Amino acid sequence: MLSRDDVASESDASWWRQAAVYQIYPRSFADADGDGLGDLAGIRSRIGYLSALHLDAVWLSPFYPSALADGGYDVDDYRDVDPRLGILADFDALVDDLHAAGIRMIVDIVPNHTSNRHEWFREALASPRGSAARARYIFRDGRGPDGAEPPADWTSAFGGPAWEPVGDGQWYLHYFAVEQPDLNWDNREVRDDFLRTLRFWSDRGVDGFRIDVAHGLAKKLDEHLPSQADLDALPKGDGGHPLWDRDEVHDIYAEWRTVFDSYSPPRTAVAEAWVQSHRVPRYASPEGLGQAFNFDLLEADFDADAFRRVVEDNLALAAQSGSSTTWVLSNHDVVRHATRYGLPEPANPKEKHGYAWLMSGGVSPVLNRERGLRRARAASLFVLALPGSAYLYQGEELGLQEVADIPAESRQDPAFFRNPGVEVGRDGCRVPLPWTTDRPSFGFGTAPPHLPQPDWFASVAVSVQEHDPDSTLSLYRKALELRHRLQTAEQLEWLDSAPDVVRFRRPNGWEVAMNFGAEPAELPAGTVLLASSPLAGRQLPAETTVWMQPS
Ligand code: GLC
Repeated sequence: MLSRDDVASESDASWWRQAAVYQIYPRSFADADGDGLGDLAGIRSRIGYLSALHLDAVWLSPFYPSALADGGYDVDDYRDVDPRLGILADFDALVDDLHAAGIRMIVDIVPNHTSNRHEWFREALASPRGSAARARYIFRDGRGPDGAEPPADWTSAFGGPAWEPVGDGQWYLHYFAVEQPDLNWDNREVRDDFLRTLRFWSDRGVDGFRIDVAHGLAKKLDEHLPSQADLDALPKGDGGHPLWDRDEVHDIYAEWRTVFDSYSPPRTAVAEAWVQSHRVPRYASPEGLGQAFNFDLLEADFDADAFRRVVEDNLALAAQSGSSTTWVLSNHDVVRHATRYGLPEPANPKEKHGYAWLMSGGVSPVLNRERGLRRARAASLFVLALPGSAYLYQGEELGLQEVADIPAESRQDPAFFRNPGVEVGRDGCRVPLPWTTDRPSFGFGTAPPHLPQPDWFASVAVSVQEHDPDSTLSLYRKALELRHRLQTAEQLEWLDSAPDVVRFRRPNGWEVAMNFGAEPAELPAGTVLLASSPLAGRQLPAETTVWMQPS
């Protein structure tokens, strides 16, 4: 039997390089206190479930006090727990429980903006123009004689204007929701406060950080602001854009690195940086955050050449920075991959993410759930065998599909409210998990959940899947356990294969073949360790991945 070889002796300091990290969206994971909102005690009650997944780490999306204008990414206080989710002592107990189960803890840091309820923003509103309190944010005078026109015509990420008036002729920048004022990272006080936050959580035993909108902090806003059309026309890959991916952002992370490295083992970080590929290595460098998300597979077509190219490119990029790469198929911002893969190839590539289907309430185009799940299982097994870290999103281990038919009155995502009739937002991947088959919440808690769950959740509940050896949950459990045992040096060798098949071998002989095609292919020689769909004879079925070892 193959075994974990050269990595077994690696020190603690590199635990993250090939970690399986499970993203928990805490308000939708498990609700222990029966208020319809997931909480920290709920997560603690499911440590056994997390253990059985053989995870290396959990990444906790924001659990800080928040009005939930953007699902918790609008933070009122970076060094506390939302009272609806618990108190700091619950957080400490959760870290202890996870550590006792051999699982590390990564928390989300949201540095681009605070919420409008943060004490700094309240102070800024109560203070005059030109004050130190306003200097922590990005305030500008409006245009026109009485400042009634916005300083620029910019559009926010969630739709609608990106500048908001405060009533005295000044406006503030909020690149995201109006409740998320952008911080001014030229301000020393802002920088120092985040260093304090990083120490605060590191001191509480947090092992790493996921950095929200990591490419947005440094901004260069001159007296004369460009128009939205000017911004759109600017290149984004040369460090010169006024809002995105500026070179100076790395000065901020160099300071953070000194904090990370003052702990033993050093605290880790992973950048959410939507930047051009050649710009990723700086975020992932050891002098910077150390690792960066690679969303390329999430964006790739379900196609052998596309997948192989993405893997090659990202292994090369990781080698440039000396980091390991990261694989992501789903997260709390995108349509779940079991659904994306079940939708027909759109004529317009912009529709790839299934947004048109979401807009139709899940009616058009017709979703082929079975095919989507089959492909999702194959893609997940492929990803779990690649060199680097795998970031999984809660519910994908159940093969969950996106929930499309959430009534307007239940929707929460600001993207829905700011884009009437154009976007429905991201609530469909954030619906509370089904643990059992019973209403009111399929075991999520005792009260109706904060986002409504569809009837079909009963058929995919944990309680249904955990004793079924062919379920997606069983596949993930086996795959993650095997991955742990098989993990090896961060390399792969491509093997010859039919055009629709991608095949590679890891240094210890662990072999992987994925058939992207609609027809069966030949099963490579060797012993099958795991397959994403049932095998028949010496065939590798359509849209199926196998893990093998040489016999
Ligand atoms: C990131 C988060 C997303 C959030 C946005 C603003 O992209 O992943 O959920 O809405 O930042 O904080």
